[in-house]
Amino acid sequence: MTESRTAAVTGATGFLGSRLCERLLEDGWTVRGLSRPTSDRGDLDDVEWYVGDLFDDETLRELVNGIDVVFHLAGIGLWSAGPETVWEVNRDGTERVLEACRDSNVGRVVFTSTSGTRRPKNGSDFADETDVAEPIGAYQASKAEAEALVDRYADTDGDAVTVHPTSIFGPGDEEFTAQLLSMGVEPTMPAHLPGGLSIVGVSDVVDGILAAYERGTSGEHYILGGENLTYDRAVSRIADAAGGSPARIRVPAAAIQAAGPVAEVVDAVADRRMFPFDRQMAKLATQRLFYSSRKASEELGYEYQPLEAHVPEAMEWYRAEVQ
Ligand SMILES: NC(=O)c1ccc[n+]([C@@H]2O[C@H](COP(=O)([O-])OP(=O)(O)OC[C@H]3O[C@@H](n4cnc5c(N)ncnc54)[C@H](OP(=O)(O)O)[C@@H]3O)[C@@H](O)[C@H]2O)c1
Repeated sequence: MTESRTAAVTGATGFLGSRLCERLLEDGWTVRGLSRPTSDRGDLDDVEWYVGDLFDDETLRELVNGIDVVFHLAGIGLWSAGPETVWEVNRDGTERVLEACRDSNVGRVVFTSTSGTRRPKNGSDFADETDVAEPIGAYQASKAEAEALVDRYADTDGDAVTVHPTSIFGPGDEEFTAQLLSMGVEPTMPAHLPGGLSIVGVSDVVDGILAAYERGTSGEHYILGGENLTYDRAVSRIADAAGGSPARIRVPAAAIQAAGPVAEVVDAVADRRMFPFDRQMAKLATQRLFYSSRKASEELGYEYQPLEAHVPEAMEWYRAEVQ
């Protein structure tokens, strides 16, 4: 019998990480997961849990020791924490993971950053990996610095690739996915955004992360995107696929751009976070942030499914857990 491959996953208790763990287990991997004492581990009973956080160096070293691959997904956004914590977790946490990987006989590190560190440039409709953008806000800035740390690790100490998912859609995501579904199926929801985005199903991102482990080149970056859609189009396609009626009231771009406080009022009314928060992030929501996944497609064999392929599973979760 061949020995199974071994993976260590940070962020294993999160939306994307739990899905990655499920997939690794299904594929016969031995999986170690980092979990905070308070984390909800769901039904991932076959994961070997290492209890601690990104700042617990001893646990991190045990987690990564002798492993084939470290999937570093733990991260935090401005939805859930203030800028200081965002910096600590995303940049300093990545530094601690890389530190633990040095001299620990780790095969490869696959770091999950965000497409947000790239933006379309010079009138182009789509951004690719080369379109490095001036970061907006603590989330993008901390991820950009973490990417630089990972690049340096790949240059000097080890083997590492970085993936950049766009907006991930799937069951279990109470932020972006729940918002988008609510706009598609609840006619009472107050607003939807101008602008556009790339929406990628969570199962496609998991495939892309595994492909980056298997076929990525150390030091390289790969955008893992999905369909590029205006918000209007995304909402109406969800409505068609889910049999709802899309939100009818459109909030003008100017209102959103003006908007930290307006956004907060809408959030309070809707009892859910609808908008990204500071003024700069609000500005981004009014733009078309479209991405090309061509490099991942050519070099990793990455493919993504249309939005409709991901709606039924997400809808089933939404009806059961959110609505
Ligand atoms: N969702 C998206 O649309 C999207 C798009 C692009 C990139 N990404 C990136 O993908 C990664 C996963 O995102 P997600 O959507 O799955 O987020 P998520 O559901 O919020 O999961 C985040 C994970 O990080 C863990 N974590 C946070 N702070 C930690 C700390 N101090 N020590 C140890 N673990 C910590 C969380 O643990 P707890 O369970 O204890 O909270 C959780 O397991 C993140 O790096 C994110 O930036 C996400």
